[in-house]
Amino acid sequence: MEDKLSGLRRIGVSYPVMQAGMPGIAGPELAAAVSLAGGIGTLGIMDASEWGMALALTTRLCRGRPFNVNLLLPFTRPRHIEQVIAQGVTMATLFWGRDAALIRRLTSAGVYTFQQVGSIDEARFALDAGVNALIVQGSEAGGHVRGHRPLKAILSTVVALSGDIPVFAAGGMYTTDDARRAREMGASGVSTGTRFVATNESSAHDAYKRALVEADDTVLTTLFGMNWDAPHRVLPNEATRRWCDAQGQAPAWLRSLYKLTGMTRRFLPMKASLTHWQRPAWPLFTGAALEVGMPARMAGCTALYAGAEVSRIRSVMPAAEVVRELAAAFDQRGSRAGQAA
Ligand SMILES: Cc1cc2nc3c(=O)[nH]c(=O)nc-3n(C[C@H](O)[C@H](O)[C@H](O)COP(=O)(O)O)c2cc1C
Repeated sequence: MEDKLSGLRRIGVSYPVMQAGMPGIAGPELAAAVSLAGGIGTLGIMDASEWGMALALTTRLCRGRPFNVNLLLPFTRPRHIEQVIAQGVTMATLFWGRDAALIRRLTSAGVYTFQQVGSIDEARFALDAGVNALIVQGSEAGGHVRGHRPLKAILSTVVALSGDIPVFAAGGMYTTDDARRAREMGASGVSTGTRFVATNESSAHDAYKRALVEADDTVLTTLFGMNWDAPHRVLPNEATRRWCDAQGQAPAWLRSLYKLTGMTRRFLPMKASLTHWQRPAWPLFTGAALEVGMPARMAGCTALYAGAEVSRIRSVMPAAEVVRELAAAFDQRGSRAGQAA
């Protein structure tokens, strides 16, 4: 019997559990740990100059299992796409933009293509363009937040629109129960960034992982908008307390400045060395996350991305265990997720 997950099964995915692409956090080790556990491991985007090597390393670590790449469109260059196709990468997730030609190019090259969407309108666009699957991101999500509505307000509508196309749920999908609730609303799978930040294999700095498992709340802000002035959800820290208003907004003058710096995205490397100069008192904050190798003191002035339900994450776990826990919601018959009996 064909079902919505048959396309993913055909390419070797066992469980409809995706680890989101996260620049600086989701490297080859994390992506491989998730894919080897049967889920969908995703390599976060990075400068095009490093991308080919990272794809090759992920392929080697995955030992024949499929993996996914994240094409965060404001930072995606033609070289990223060429390498994905040339190296025969199995899956790609597009986010933050509408590019029907790119969807067609990837799908016709045999790349199973997801689009993460924040609205019904965006979902319609991606479906018309021919995506293989959708990810619906609710406003509770960690990282950059595309939509304005909570997951449960739009998930069922997108599922209804999507017919045979599988829809994954993103935003607060941290436990078997969360995934089960999403499944009851029609989701075929789940995707999470925050839950995978707090894993042994993520490249997040220990200070970030520690802050995450101790946190109770988050703030949706525009503070870390140097080079990319899009709203993002983070843990409050010294920088947000110093510069954000009660609604999480950065000062208007800073937002105007950030808009101008957006133009530098075209020619500056993603990981601009500027991040290393950040201090809580100097309001020029890039979106770079706190990763291994950066000084721990930067926890006070970098974006500690996290979803609104962060208080439900209380430990750092092996990535494979997270996959197992989330997969259990789709695995009622004790067989592999979604598999036809
Ligand atoms: C640290 C971090 C970085 C992220 N970076 C990206 C990204 O580069 N591309 C992308 O498609 N989504 C990114 N996301 C968002 C995820 O795709 C997803 O929507 C989100 O993690 C879901 O909410 P959750 O964090 O509560 O699981 C990021 C999320 C986090 C936590």
